[in-house]
Amino acid sequence: MRKWIVAGNWKMHNTIAESIALAKAIKEGSAGIQSGAIVLAPPFTALFSVGETIKGSNLSLAAQNMHYEDKGAFTGEIAPSMLKDTGCAYVILGHSERRKYFHERDNDVNLKVKKALTSGLIPIMCVGETDEEREKGVTQDVVGRQVQQGLNGVEKIENVVIAYEPVWAIGTGKVATSAQAQEVHAFIRGLLKNTFGGKKADDICILYGGSVTKDNVGDLIAMNDIDGALVGGASLKADGFLGIIKEISGRK
Ligand code: 13P
Repeated sequence: MRKWIVAGNWKMHNTIAESIALAKAIKEGSAGIQSGAIVLAPPFTALFSVGETIKGSNLSLAAQNMHYEDKGAFTGEIAPSMLKDTGCAYVILGHSERRKYFHERDNDVNLKVKKALTSGLIPIMCVGETDEEREKGVTQDVVGRQVQQGLNGVEKIENVVIAYEPVWAIGTGKVATSAQAQEVHAFIRGLLKNTFGGKKADDICILYGGSVTKDNVGDLIAMNDIDGALVGGASLKADGFLGIIKEISGRK
């Protein structure tokens, strides 16, 4: 059985002090929950402090990006070993904001996913179509290409988490309906089955992201192939994020 995951992507928000306070509140509010995984992805500057704050708890730490080289002359970049050094267990890769503003391509995402796996980090690989692509009816082409190219040559597929985040739903308040999301999640799982075999595909956690709140997550999580959520805006307030965690842990 796959376990559920709720991850909070704080994006470019929160100072170190704000991050510690938020992590503490989430830690306290979720103390009794043991079944799934609760993941916090603060900005790089707060990784170490948040890692220290959640040590020994049921929470895990994630980074929002990383480079695919171990070290070297890559000004401004962060290596996988550096993330592990701060206590990270997960790393978000290929987020649509990275693809859009920083021109990451499927090949970059693929190099990063493979590097994360060999470095002992769990990649949360993000995929999703734009509004325009959905209107044109090419959602499956786009998501299929992102999944297949992103996972090209990956061996330990069971250690990969996929996040389906339709770009039109991110930060817009326009959450996908549970049927829209389930359709794409089932499509992704079908692709994984073809490539990696049924047993492995059944064990892979596929998260939904895009305007998730405590009020709409119940319908999403009731779907067969939706195994959790990657949350942006609603993860920045302890109450809202804890509400999402409670909905998911109560239903999965
Ligand atoms: P919102 O929850 O703010 O729509 O952001 C989703 C997201 O991009 C998480 O990675």
